[in-house]
Amino acid sequence: MKASDFGSDFRWGVSTAALQTEGFPDADGKMPSIWDAFAARRGKIRSGHHPQKACEFYKRYPEDIALASSLSIPNFRFSLSCPRIIPDGNGRINHKGLDHYKRLIEHLKKHNIEPWITLYHWDLPQALEDKGGWTNRNILGWFSHYAETAARELAGFDVPYWMVLNEPLAFTGAGYFLGHHAPGKKGFNNFLPAMLHAALATPAGEQAIRLHQPDALIGSTYSCSMISPAGHSPAHLRAAEKADALLNRLFVEAALGLGFPFKELPFLRNVEKWMKADDEKNMISSPDFLGIQNYTREVVASCWYVPYLKAKIIKAKNRKVPHTEMNWEIYPDALYEMLRKFSAYRPGLPLVVTENGAAFPDKIEHNQVSDPERLQYLQEHIRRVRYAQVSGIPVKGYFVWSLTDNFEWAEGYHPRFGLIYVDYKTQERTIKSSGHWFRDFLISG
Ligand code: GCO
Repeated sequence: MKASDFGSDFRWGVSTAALQTEGFPDADGKMPSIWDAFAARRGKIRSGHHPQKACEFYKRYPEDIALASSLSIPNFRFSLSCPRIIPDGNGRINHKGLDHYKRLIEHLKKHNIEPWITLYHWDLPQALEDKGGWTNRNILGWFSHYAETAARELAGFDVPYWMVLNEPLAFTGAGYFLGHHAPGKKGFNNFLPAMLHAALATPAGEQAIRLHQPDALIGSTYSCSMISPAGHSPAHLRAAEKADALLNRLFVEAALGLGFPFKELPFLRNVEKWMKADDEKNMISSPDFLGIQNYTREVVASCWYVPYLKAKIIKAKNRKVPHTEMNWEIYPDALYEMLRKFSAYRPGLPLVVTENGAAFPDKIEHNQVSDPERLQYLQEHIRRVRYAQVSGIPVKGYFVWSLTDNFEWAEGYHPRFGLIYVDYKTQERTIKSSGHWFRDFLISG
C-alpha cells in the first residue's frame, strides 16, 4: 500500500486543536476559556494537569510546522481559539488574537501546507459560560458573530477548508450531561438545550463562513464508533441500537434533515421544551463534506439500571481485547464500517477522516521513540480507508490525530497521541518511529 494508490487529490494530514496544544492562556489579550476554568477546579483533570503550557504551540508553531514539513505532511487541521478572538463575551474583537492565526496560516502556506480550520474545538470563553454557555439560546448570536468575524478577517488568506463544530456530541455530552469535561455541567436540563443549540449552530456557522468565503468547502466533524451488541438477545440488540442513535446518529442526522432520533431515544423528546417553530428546519445544514472521527468500536450490553438508555458499554480491558492507553479497543474494521455507514446518508457527499489515531505509553530512549503499536494501528486503519475507497465510498482524506503529543482533556498529559513526542519539561520534540513511517508512506509512490 502506497499513499499514491489513493490518488493525487486524496488529502493526507494531521489534526490538532488550540486548547490541546497552544498554551499561553493570557497572551495577546486572550481571556480564560471554560477549560482554563475547569482545570483550575480540584479533581477535574487527572493528576491536576492543566492546559496552561501544553506544547506551547502558540509560540513554537514555526518549529512544529517545520517538523510537519520535514514529515512531508501536506494538510494541517487546527482550531481557532474563540477566547483569543472574542475574549470577553460581549462581542469585542481582539485583533491581536486574529493576527496570530494570520501568521500561522502564512507560515503553513510558506511550507506548502494547506490549512484546515475548525472554528470550535471546545474552548468556549468562560465569560459566555457565565451567561449559560451552550445552554443559553443566545449562543446562536454569539457563535454567529464569532464565525463571521473569523471568516471575514481571514478571508483573503486562502483557507480552502473549514469545519464548524468539532464533535458536538462529545462537548455537549461530556460537558453538559456527564460533567466530565468543561464546563462540568450535568443532567438533561443542561444537555438538551446544549444539544439543540449545538445542532442549530452548525448551519448558522456554515452560513456565516459562506457569507465571507463563498468558495470555502465547509463541513463539521462527527465522533463515531462502530457499535456491536454484546449478544444476540433482543435486549442487547435494542441496547446497541440506542447506543448507535446516541453516539453516531444524533447530530449528523439533525444536520442532514432527518431530525433527532426520537424513535430510539424517546427521552430526547423533552428537548421540545426548548425548541421554537422552525428549529427542526433551521438545523439542516448543507455541508460540502462530513468529517468522520473514529478511534474504536464499542460493545454494548443491555443494562436495566442505566437510566433512560438501559445500555452500557463493556470496556475493552474487561473484554480482554487489544486496546490503546485510552482503553479503546483496537479494531480497524470500525473505520471502514463508519465510512460505509456515513456514506449511505447522502450518496456522493465526500467524507474526510478528520481524526484517527492512538495513544500508547511511549518512552524516549537514546533520543528515540519506538512506537510499533501506533505504526501498526495507523497502517491498519489506513488500509481500511483504502478498502472503503476501492468499494466506491467517496472518502477524500485522512488525518492522523495528532502531530505532537498534547493535552488530552480530562486525561491531562498522560495519553500520548502524537507522531512527535513532546518532553513536557523541556518542550523538546522527538519524531517517533510512526512519524518517520508516515513520512515514508506519504512520499512513497
Ligand atoms: C476529538 C477530540 C480530540 C481528542 C482525540 C483523542 O476531536 O475527538 O477532540 O481532541 O484529543 O479525539 O481523544
